[in-house]
Amino acid sequence: MLTRIKDLAESLAPRLIEIRRHIHSHPELSAQEYQTAAYAARCLSSCGIQVQEGIGKTGFVGELKGDGSDERTLAIRADMDALPIQERTNLEFASQTPGVMHACGHDVHTTLGLGTAMVLSQLGESPPGNVRFLFQPAEEIAQGASWMIQDGAMKDVSGILGVHVFPSIPARSVGVRKGALTAAADDLEIVIQGDSGHGARPHEAVDAIWIASLVVTTLQQAISRTHNPLHPVVLTIGNIEGGQAANVVADRVRMSGTVRSLHPETHANLPAWIEKIIANICDTYGASYEMNYQRGAPSVQNDFALTQLVEGAAQEAWGSDHVHILPEPSLGAEDFSGYLEEAPGTMFRLGVGRTDQPNYPLHHPQFEIDEAAIVTGVVTLAYSAYKYWQQ
Ligand code: NI
Repeated sequence: MLTRIKDLAESLAPRLIEIRRHIHSHPELSAQEYQTAAYAARCLSSCGIQVQEGIGKTGFVGELKGDGSDERTLAIRADMDALPIQERTNLEFASQTPGVMHACGHDVHTTLGLGTAMVLSQLGESPPGNVRFLFQPAEEIAQGASWMIQDGAMKDVSGILGVHVFPSIPARSVGVRKGALTAAADDLEIVIQGDSGHGARPHEAVDAIWIASLVVTTLQQAISRTHNPLHPVVLTIGNIEGGQAANVVADRVRMSGTVRSLHPETHANLPAWIEKIIANICDTYGASYEMNYQRGAPSVQNDFALTQLVEGAAQEAWGSDHVHILPEPSLGAEDFSGYLEEAPGTMFRLGVGRTDQPNYPLHHPQFEIDEAAIVTGVVTLAYSAYKYWQQ
């Protein structure tokens, strides 16, 4: 079966490259993926897969029906959105839309979803259970996965596979990791309300700038002294504003930041922990505060068994030299985690790095990939899906 999957993927490679280049040259921003979704849905329908459009706003799902001998449904997720970046590659299929670029490789992800559907539907036999392809919008704004889930995309799903391109792994290789792959990323906004006064008479005022400084310093110190250092937390206050004049005590400071963490328990406790520190400092010095803590995407926690499945499939397909066991998670965020609250799953990293020239990072205006990675991704997904029914 592996040989058949590989042969099919190889024979589809020119078509898949054509699809990827078409999507790359017509990028659309988050929640505006109308043309991308319509194009991908047409590709999917043409290989006999049932398509349901308008799932997750601008997303859609395709379902390859199984023969009914296994009741499970395996989902495969492909995200479709691009970024507000002006492309600076010299590719002949570079973005035709000014200021918008597929700089995170979601053009490749969409292509991988289509390629996997083509391979699985052309094997000449139905899978035992259903394979559902989730073409998701708006990953870059961490909204698309929850829109898909709200519209029932995860109904009856028993496992889910996802993939993200990774330029620091060479093409023709993949990276896998059990447990945490990405961080939970939350947004934090704090307003400190003091009382204004003359800069020469601070004891008659409540200095919001000094109190805000204490809050920032105490939060940073408390992370190193009260959190388990093996459960990382990064808190970055990236914006702070307040005060009117050099000789006036500021009555109000507003600051905002991002909070990253890996462990679900730490993540759950963060808002209360942060608020307690702010409340105690403000209380001591007579200020009041408002805290607005917005949950973003939780941490992607890869399921052990499904990660093992993908790792095994990739090792059989490419040899263990081409399967990198990722030593560390990333503190980036990925809304694939939303699906993992509905069913176990795993996301692997697909090497797209070129060996003949420098590789630019994701979200860079000169980001490019080695297109050989497309076959590697399709075979890894399709063969993992095939093996899923045997476990
Ligand atoms: Ni991405």
